[in-house]
Amino acid sequence: MARVLLTRRIPSSVVGPLQAQHAVDIYSGDGAIPRDELLRRVGDKDALICVLTDRVDRELLDAAPALKIAANIAVGYDNIDVAAARERGVTVTNTPDVLTEAVAEFTWALILALARRVVEGDRLVRAGGWKGWAFDFMLGTELRGKQLGIIGAGRIGRAVAAKAPAFGMKVKFARHDMSVDQLLVTSDVISIHTPGTPEMKHLFNRRSLARMKRSALLVNTARGSIVDEEALAWALDERLIAGAALDVYEKEPLVHPALKHENLILAPHLGSATRETRTSMADLAVRNVLAMLKGDEPLTPVS
Ligand code: DGY
Repeated sequence: MARVLLTRRIPSSVVGPLQAQHAVDIYSGDGAIPRDELLRRVGDKDALICVLTDRVDRELLDAAPALKIAANIAVGYDNIDVAAARERGVTVTNTPDVLTEAVAEFTWALILALARRVVEGDRLVRAGGWKGWAFDFMLGTELRGKQLGIIGAGRIGRAVAAKAPAFGMKVKFARHDMSVDQLLVTSDVISIHTPGTPEMKHLFNRRSLARMKRSALLVNTARGSIVDEEALAWALDERLIAGAALDVYEKEPLVHPALKHENLILAPHLGSATRETRTSMADLAVRNVLAMLKGDEPLTPVS
């Protein structure tokens, strides 16, 4: 029987098979497990099932000498120092595929909400500011015939692209169909679907935002580090772009204080947040741990 630390409560139907075979220590507090508690409780564990708010770095790996696997319940794994894990023979797994459709659907929810000013309208009605129907009131922009530029041609980027014809949009992928710069200059909506690697940090900065069309919309459901929030606030102040929707932030849950614009949607990292998908993500992480502890290859190791 191995010892497993689970840093978040997950559905009992999912954790059951793990508890049937191993000793599972589940953090049951609200929110993220405090760092000192994580370091203490991981100390004697063979496996860690963690989420993207848990930093798996050298300090944690040093604190957990018996650890064999860190199974992230997320497709992104920028919270894990994969190189350090590899050095210590700790396998890292993530949860690809199972969240693709949920994130793609949420991306379209943001694109549509931004283009048609849904959140702005909701705020206005709630504040009692609606004076009634008017011919030229709160006009949005139509998607039909426009170009959707996608940064990141992985699973999620392709799933977002697959839904574009339903709205009459044509799709271009950066680095496949055109350069990033061409994509910036020609797209009406830009959606980001690339991992939050150091190379992608602040891909959207003052210079790149200024290259976008003044009528363009920017959507980020990938990782916060890709968009320089201070630069985005500046671009919105200067009306260099028409609007933006963020689901991810540079320092979650903090949001840059200058991001207050009406033409900006701020979502609280909900991309994969459906009951179905979160259950599938947890299930895949558990199956990775079970496989590893049995001596089999994990199903979805990160490369
Ligand atoms: C992921 O899986 O990387 C998502 O951001 C989690 O919601």
